[in-house]
Amino acid sequence: MKHFAIVPGDGIGPEVVKVGTDCMEALCEISSFDFDGELFNIGGQRYLETGELLTDQDISDLKKKDAIYFGAIGDPRIKPGILEGGILLKMRAVFDQYINLRPVTSWFPYVPLKREVPFDIHFLRENTEDFYMGLGAKLRKDNGYRAEIGVKRESYDMGFDIKAEPSEDDEYSIEVGLLSRKGVTRFADYAFKYAQARGEDKVTLVDKANVITNNYGMQREIFQQKADEYGMKLDFMFVDAMSMAMIVRPETFGTVAVPNLFGDILTDLGAQLQGGLGMGGSGNINPHGLSMFEPIHGSAPDIAGQGKANPIAAVLAAEMLLDNQGFPEEGRMLHAAVRHCLDTMQVTPDLGGKLRTEEVGKAMVDFILNQK
Ligand code: NAI
Ligand code: MG
Repeated sequence: MKHFAIVPGDGIGPEVVKVGTDCMEALCEISSFDFDGELFNIGGQRYLETGELLTDQDISDLKKKDAIYFGAIGDPRIKPGILEGGILLKMRAVFDQYINLRPVTSWFPYVPLKREVPFDIHFLRENTEDFYMGLGAKLRKDNGYRAEIGVKRESYDMGFDIKAEPSEDDEYSIEVGLLSRKGVTRFADYAFKYAQARGEDKVTLVDKANVITNNYGMQREIFQQKADEYGMKLDFMFVDAMSMAMIVRPETFGTVAVPNLFGDILTDLGAQLQGGLGMGGSGNINPHGLSMFEPIHGSAPDIAGQGKANPIAAVLAAEMLLDNQGFPEEGRMLHAAVRHCLDTMQVTPDLGGKLRTEEVGKAMVDFILNQK
């Protein structure tokens, strides 16, 4: 019996998470998979009532679970950044979810890129380092053009002292992209293991090593060592070339490892290639700890409560959760349920259909129960 934390969150979060949990419950009836889901009230509504974001109590309760199934957070009444920083980013940091898994699959013909050749790219975005660590400062006259920036991690502790020559009304800003050997090594290790488990013999590493030579030079070196260790191939792609290649030959990629900043951008491009926000699932994974699975979209306040939310992204997130938790066959059944709804046009208006969120959910549940 698996124990999942269910965090529906705000807006359409609860609507799509309901579909995902209904599908998982249907799977329990037809397979050996079994789970209990405990609902967690974390999100904008609770913040407005109590001022709480992700509390110590939440963290210790979540720690007891096998995995987290997450909807979305975001409330137009709350200043942007508060919920993201206090809940989402905090969760990723506290549980050290250093892999962001983002599959990009062709669901032909429901994608803007109408290619005859199917593609199935699995992006692994490093989730904790690079230019997204908040390591930066403004250097101005009033701080003597000096600033100390540092980061404290469980595994390491470091600081910088940055100096610039003062010049009359000048102002500088600086943002540091930090990679650690430890961080890149665990990322590379996961990437090769992941590709191997998918039956592939290579990993593609995306970077800009021709310009950002220190960081991405070290990253290449570490990935090459891992490739040799695993006896697998390693391909390099520059991020600019990669963004073109994703359009003209997406079918040539399998497992793609990409550092944090470039990963943020490429996976949004990928989201559109597979049919938009309503079609993308995502995992924030700690291979040795607590992972969290969520649709890539937000709380969509513009359509919340109207039954218009496409639940497919949330169901694909549940598929990834099951795969991660050792139930790949059950995961594939969710994939088949999505395929079935697309093939029969039992979809929401964003995909040109007429069904409401819960009707798509019912079609998926019926499909799953019929597999018995
Ligand atoms: P969004 O993803 O919520 O919505 C963008 C557009 O896509 C909207 O027009 C929405 O109606 C549509 N859309 C999104 N998901 C859909 C679905 N499943 N079916 C049909 N249409 C869908 O992004 P937006 O509007 O920028 O942000 C809204 C709130 O969500 C903000 O508070 C933001 O901070 C938060 N957010 C939270 C995320 C998370 O919890 N991981 C991720 C992204 C945004
Ligand atoms: Mg993004």
